[in-house]
Amino acid sequence: MTESLQDLAQTGRPRAIVTGAASGIGAATLVELARRGYDTAALDINLPGAEASAGRAMTLGGRHVAVHTDVADEASVVVAFAAAVSFLGGLEAMATCAGVADSTPFMDVSVATFRRMHEVNVIGTFLSMREAARHMADGGRMCTVASVAGLRGGGLMGTAAYAASKGGVLALTKNAARALADKGISVNTIAPGATLTPMLAEAWKNEENRRRIESMSAQKRTADPEEIARSIAFLLSPDASIVTGATLVADGGLVMHY
Ligand SMILES: NC(=O)c1ccc[n+]([C@@H]2O[C@H](COP(=O)([O-])OP(=O)(O)OC[C@H]3O[C@@H](n4cnc5c(N)ncnc54)[C@H](O)[C@@H]3O)[C@@H](O)[C@H]2O)c1
Repeated sequence: MTESLQDLAQTGRPRAIVTGAASGIGAATLVELARRGYDTAALDINLPGAEASAGRAMTLGGRHVAVHTDVADEASVVVAFAAAVSFLGGLEAMATCAGVADSTPFMDVSVATFRRMHEVNVIGTFLSMREAARHMADGGRMCTVASVAGLRGGGLMGTAAYAASKGGVLALTKNAARALADKGISVNTIAPGATLTPMLAEAWKNEENRRRIESMSAQKRTADPEEIARSIAFLLSPDASIVTGATLVADGGLVMHY
């Protein structure tokens, strides 16, 4: 038995790191995991936001910490994961919810924008998975966050750089599932459709835009971040023991319907 599993046996609580935990899907995931009995570390470039999420988790019991992290910066990710695991005493689960979006039309996308999407969404996801794998016990579980934009090639709000980066997350997740299976680690991804978080709030002020995109899904609605968080928590749980390298499309039937 590994040291961290011995720790887990002593405390009885699984331990999770969530990146992007200051806001939206990441914040909801942190709280959902705390509700399910996890100790957690909230990693985000927005430290006050991460502290607020850790504070919400604390009201549900257990031990929780916020750690400043820029997922696009290798040194920052290495230091943050080491600090988080040192606080938690081990690691069984990790969700990569940190991400940025862009809706610049194809002809206007700059290389700087394209690069930034990939630095945060692809390299940030890769670094988080690599560092988690270095600290994770056998039987550990990871969930990345892609998007229907990665499956469809965008096409909802004009998102060439974003869609390409989420396609990268989909491929990277399958690669990690293969690479880490020998370590007993499962890796899956979730592909949310429109989800009402600060990332989407501005675009949803345009009522016509919102109605157009909602009407493309079978359920004809926008998800709450808590709905996505519960799907992530499932993929991180032992209930998903046979699931690895999979994409859970959580979009109210948008990709299916299209
Ligand atoms: N909201 C949607 O409709 C939707 C749909 C599909 C996929 N997603 C994806 O879900 C994930 C979460 O998005 P959200 O909607 O919750 O957005 P959000 O903006 O509410 O949250 C994103 C979080 O990531 C953090 N972050 C950004 N850059 C970072 C960096 N370099 N290092 C560390 N943290 C960083 C932000 O501070 C923020 O807390 C993203 O990957 C997004 O692409 C969102």
